[in-house]
Amino acid sequence: MSQRGATGYGAVMTEAQLPPDLDRGITAMRDAIAFVERRVINRASVVKRIFAALLTREHVLLQARTGVGKSLLAHQVFAMFTGASIFEVQASKEQQPDTYFGALDLDELKRGKIWHNTEGSLVEAQFGFIDEIFDANDYTLRALLTLLNERRLVRGVQNVASPLHTVVGATNYVRVSQVTEALLDRFLYKAVVESDRDPFFMYRISQQFIRHRGHVAAAPATITFDILKRLSDIVRGHSEEIEMHVPRSVMFFANLVLRHYESLHQRADKDRRKGDGSGAEFRISPRTQAKALDALRAIAIMNRRLDVRIEDVGRLNIVLCTGGIAEEKDMFRKAYESLRQQYTATHALDQLRDLLDLQDLIDRVTDDRKLLEQPISELTTTAVKKTVTDWAREKLGIQHTGPEHNRRLLTAFLEEIDPLTDEIRLIKKRLEAEVHEIFAADVTWG
Ligand SMILES: Nc1ncnc2c1ncn2[C@@H]1O[C@H](COP(=O)(O)OP(=O)(O)OP(=O)(O)O)[C@@H](O)[C@H]1O
Ligand SMILES: [Mg+2]
Repeated sequence: MSQRGATGYGAVMTEAQLPPDLDRGITAMRDAIAFVERRVINRASVVKRIFAALLTREHVLLQARTGVGKSLLAHQVFAMFTGASIFEVQASKEQQPDTYFGALDLDELKRGKIWHNTEGSLVEAQFGFIDEIFDANDYTLRALLTLLNERRLVRGVQNVASPLHTVVGATNYVRVSQVTEALLDRFLYKAVVESDRDPFFMYRISQQFIRHRGHVAAAPATITFDILKRLSDIVRGHSEEIEMHVPRSVMFFANLVLRHYESLHQRADKDRRKGDGSGAEFRISPRTQAKALDALRAIAIMNRRLDVRIEDVGRLNIVLCTGGIAEEKDMFRKAYESLRQQYTATHALDQLRDLLDLQDLIDRVTDDRKLLEQPISELTTTAVKKTVTDWAREKLGIQHTGPEHNRRLLTAFLEEIDPLTDEIRLIKKRLEAEVHEIFAADVTWG
């Protein structure tokens, strides 16, 4: 998120615009999504996930039976970009890591050193398509994990950076082992694709087949990889040129929705199993939780916004749910709608924003004690300033007189808040403890 706490909710960020070339890039991405969706029938939710993965520089896993258009999808999506190289392979049990990282250098091997000639391998590609990925043996998959995650080839003394952007993995089945569990977590976006038995879709697939046979359709326009790279840097918060803004309250709210969705999912699983304790509990990993933030920014930027809004949270199913599983989508909807109702019908969202702004202030004061000498109003330009100072003027009618004044001000301000939800009650309690802590003369031990 934006670390510029002090600039907070300024209108400047909200009105900030993308430079024209990136704005055209967004248009091109939207056109590309529409084009792929026309070529590959009834795959909209998968197509959206692949593009979200491209924008966030993540990987996608497609689980499907044979012949449902996995290869076609991957090829058609990659064909929308220029300036990127594609590595493609069909995994099998016998393969060794050199299939992915390039052949071993024999001279080096004679000297007892493992060294891959990475030219033309996955290590040097921007895009990858790994078909039947679970057929690969655990040893090879483990070696792949680092490359997928760190974008580096790390093998013995060989340690090289890789431009790898997005891998589309395809599989018929999910094989469960320790390695595959780790692998699944690397594929942030997932979709299950069923074959189509709806006569209309069957007709449309035949129609596309007559036009293009099995080949990709030539795109009317392509996107340079450089544009994709710049957009994904913005979305990941790594851009030097543009910073997106995620309000603290929206980030907090997104985590509430995620938690609620997780618990609805667990409850449904339990009901389905009817007390039989088999199967791993559904869990959203901390990695996915952290990366949901990038997904939020991708969702916002595709709508040409540099600020993330609460309604964007309602689209997080793209990363939290497996595409193609209707029950998950419904559960997510339920989790989002009920929390949104609760937080927007009352003024809970405003309360949340005030408290989280206060949290930011406390963080800054904790980092720099000298700030305590100044009036609170000078410490923040966010909503807290307005609320705290207006409120203090009205309630206390006193002038600033140093830290003691700040302490009374913050304590009384917190006391006055009547939490509208359980989560806000918790934040309030934690903040009270933190305020107490900053002003405590002695160290508090545990
Ligand atoms: N949803 C679809 N839209 C358009 N064409 C499709 C669709 N699904 C399948 N086809 C047609 O079926 C052919 C086979 O699809 P494709 O090879 O992509 O399947 P696959 O899922 O990769 O299969 P495999 O598991 O055997 O690799 C495609 O070339 C295409 O003509
Ligand atoms: Mg295929």
